[in-house]
Amino acid sequence: GISYYSYQTIKKAKEAGSGQVNPGIRKDINKVVDFIDIEDITEKVSLCRCWRSKNWPYCDGAHGTHNKETGDNTGPVVVKHK
Ligand code: FES
Repeated sequence: GISYYSYQTIKKAKEAGSGQVNPGIRKDINKVVDFIDIEDITEKVSLCRCWRSKNWPYCDGAHGTHNKETGDNTGPVVVKHK
């Protein structure tokens, strides 16, 4: 099980928002999981990895602004047929 210390540490971190990758997508649920049927991908699909897309789980280019503002280097994963 999880130790009391770990529980307190995680609780504090959650309160502070520190260490979180996701700034605002579906924060009302415990875990964001998305399913896409392979058959529905006609040519290719770009999936967001910066957690800033307004069209989650798809990339909408928001990583560009995020990278510029923070010096980060995020970008999507592109899934495509051969
Ligand atoms: Fe998040 Fe492009 S918008 S990776």
